Amino acid sequence: MEKQLYEIGMIGLGTMGRNIVLNMADHGVSVAGYDKDPGKGPILLSEGAGKQLAATDNLKAFIAMLRPPRVVMLLVAPAKVVDLVLPDLLPVLDKGDLVIDAGNSFFKDTDARGKLCQEKGVHFFGMGVSGGEAGARHGPSMMPGGPRESYERVRPVLESIAAKVGGEPCVAYVGAGSAGHYVKMVHNGIEYGLMQLISESYDLLKRGLGLSNDELSATYKRWDAGALNSFLIEITATVLLKNDDKGTGRLIDKVKDAARQKGTGKWTSQDALDLQVPAPTLDLAVCQRDLSGQLEARAAVHAALGGPSPSFGGDRKAFVDQVGHALFAAMVLTYAQGLDLLRHASTAYNYGLDLAEVAKIWRGGCIIRAALLEDIRKAYAARADLPSLLADANIAGKLKARAGDLRAVVRTMAELGLPAPGLMASLSYLDGLRSGWLPTNLIQAQRDFFGAHTYERTDQPGTFHSHWGEA
Ligand code: 6PG
Repeated sequence: MEKQLYEIGMIGLGTMGRNIVLNMADHGVSVAGYDKDPGKGPILLSEGAGKQLAATDNLKAFIAMLRPPRVVMLLVAPAKVVDLVLPDLLPVLDKGDLVIDAGNSFFKDTDARGKLCQEKGVHFFGMGVSGGEAGARHGPSMMPGGPRESYERVRPVLESIAAKVGGEPCVAYVGAGSAGHYVKMVHNGIEYGLMQLISESYDLLKRGLGLSNDELSATYKRWDAGALNSFLIEITATVLLKNDDKGTGRLIDKVKDAARQKGTGKWTSQDALDLQVPAPTLDLAVCQRDLSGQLEARAAVHAALGGPSPSFGGDRKAFVDQVGHALFAAMVLTYAQGLDLLRHASTAYNYGLDLAEVAKIWRGGCIIRAALLEDIRKAYAARADLPSLLADANIAGKLKARAGDLRAVVRTMAELGLPAPGLMASLSYLDGLRSGWLPTNLIQAQRDFFGAHTYERTDQPGTFHSHWGEA
């Protein structure tokens, strides 16, 4: 009897790897799994009983199970483990095989790994995968990047396992080199920004207006049914209702207020700074997680200065609606920053990104999925070289209708003493871009004064230097 050869190989049978394999098997794809931990394979085989699956803890046996030219997907954590796997994997692969790193790898590592594989004639894909455990099992959003010709080989499988929106799969070839991991990194930067904004709205409604968890949950639920419809708003409504299984009351009130991070948001800000692309909401989202973790400093400053004792005196019902509008505006501004970073990165790194396609595959399956992404997709489909998302007439109209609410909410938070770095940065981003004139002429004059750094004039071409101390 002829030995069965499997269509895809998966290295790493932890939660994410296993769920992707089961998702593939549900769609009729035969998969062989490998994990050096001998305990992992049997879990896959028992969860996937009856499906076309195999599992082993022997790398050579695993490779022998795959149909050539082979497709090997890696889902290992932390992503640095990829560097431990590749030296063992490459010698047992053949020219023309394809390796897909589907972990949260740093894009510069992906570039280096792509080169290493290319030297051996092996194709390499860096693929961002979003949606967590449930997404992996039932339909993630996937952002594959690398050599375009290899994509066609895996396209049917990826399209079959991806989340669908209006029948369209949330996966597409995003671009060359490390484009896939770059797009996923920016997805996470936006994710950080949106989560920060939602936490600020929660603070305002909770401490500022005194809403109970039930009222808060109902508010987010209502918002999720309207313009704010999104995964993160939806789970916020759910999280607030979870009872504490180790005590009384709601679990959210027992969760320590110190946010952790694995680093993808920080990478986004670091690269935005390197490319000189402003992404202030994303930056401050990272900063605020860091600040929340400074428990000793926070306690000391709280003791020295006292905390806010907010009391809101206005029309509460009307104000809750204003907070919803402000949150929507700030979310639009957050997506705008992320997409602008992608636009610049596409040029800087020769990715050839199609931002309408990126928005399209973010509409479902991923953590930042939102109804708004359809408007964003349309904006870039109408004009691929849009200089800013805010320049699109539909988006600009939506922002215009809510900018006053964002301003009112920022003003109220400042008055109440509640920290609102994300909302404030979003408003400043909007005001900075729309201003027409900025006071940076003064910065140029100061630079030229003390450092002879030169400046340009509004009325003549060229660069100039002046002796500013002389009248
Ligand atoms: C996703 C998530 C996923 C992960 C984040 C969490 O798209 O499915 O973004 O990649 O949950 O990395 O990041 P932090 O631990 O940094 O918050």
